[in-house]
Amino acid sequence: MIQFAQKALFYNPYLPHPCRIVASTPQTEDTMLFKVRFEDDKLAEEFIHKPGQFVQVSVMGTGECPISIASPPTRHGTVDLCIRKAGRVTEAFHAMGQNALFGMRGPYGNGYPVDVMEGNNLLIIAGGIGMAPLRSLLLYALDHRSKFKDIILMYGARNREDFLFVGELLSLQGRKDVKTLLAVEHDPDGAWEGEVGFVTDLFHKLDINANNTYAAVCGPPVMYKFVINNLLDMGFSKGNILMSLERKMKCGIGKCVHCSVGFKYTCLDGPIFTYWDAINMREII
Ligand SMILES: Cc1cc2nc3c(=O)[nH]c(=O)nc-3n(C[C@H](O)[C@H](O)[C@H](O)COP(=O)(O)OP(=O)(O)OC[C@H]3O[C@@H](n4cnc5c(N)ncnc54)[C@H](O)[C@@H]3O)c2cc1C
Ligand code: FES
Repeated sequence: MIQFAQKALFYNPYLPHPCRIVASTPQTEDTMLFKVRFEDDKLAEEFIHKPGQFVQVSVMGTGECPISIASPPTRHGTVDLCIRKAGRVTEAFHAMGQNALFGMRGPYGNGYPVDVMEGNNLLIIAGGIGMAPLRSLLLYALDHRSKFKDIILMYGARNREDFLFVGELLSLQGRKDVKTLLAVEHDPDGAWEGEVGFVTDLFHKLDINANNTYAAVCGPPVMYKFVINNLLDMGFSKGNILMSLERKMKCGIGKCVHCSVGFKYTCLDGPIFTYWDAINMREII
């Protein structure tokens, strides 16, 4: 009892766990997929998360920032982080080499309600870096294929060079149990074999019943309005549209109020919100 009280007294939720970069794979000019592992083997094996959750990543002497977990909880031992250079911390992270030591704490956020989504069709709609958290959900669903009805991925990027996980996603096109619709906005040299246009141009290729489908959407803010209008036109209920939203964060655990929107905290109540939640919260999209 005393031991438990002492542990609780000295437990510091802000303390990151030491981690190392196991491998890094370039995705675009400014985005890298990092495979990382906790130094503590027990923690590495026991770390569990839900698709859609994020971690706080810290680079010594630089700072901390939130990054979505891009790997599914079905694959243990390492964690995938897909990081785009945006400023101090993310640039410092890119500058680190293999085996470099950094800090990680989490997982945080609500994640996708996968238990509720199971038994339904899954429509994943991603734009740009928004594919990072949705990759976790996609791979989770593919690893639990029998628990979902149809699985459809719609992913759009500006051009082929901006396309994330390109080899992995193109290889899915050979599978019969997932429909993959991929588009780039610009293809000046005609090298792209998929669709050319916006991700919303892919909607006419869909043939699904909105009543038993969950749509998971993540992308740049401008994408949400057009995607949501299309989903509502198809008959989606507001509660079946799940959006992953980004706000500036500090603590990640509901203490600092940096990420508050109305009466909600993006780090605790989100980052996954239904469209119904969103229209009841001012300024969320
Ligand atoms: C829940 C969540 C999940 C995220 N997942 C990923 C991910 O998987 N991969 C990834 O590359 N990035 C992700 N981000 C964004 C990432 O956290 C920011 O790019 C990062 O905080 C920038 O930190 P920095 O120190 O490198 O840049 P800074 O030096 O802090 O800032 C660089 C610029 O980016 C702006 N900025 C900082 N944070 C954000 C933000 N959250 N949204 C928009 N602009 C911001 C700043 O105002 C500044 O203009 C996520 C953010 C959130 C909230
Ligand atoms: S980041 Fe501190 S309350 Fe959400």
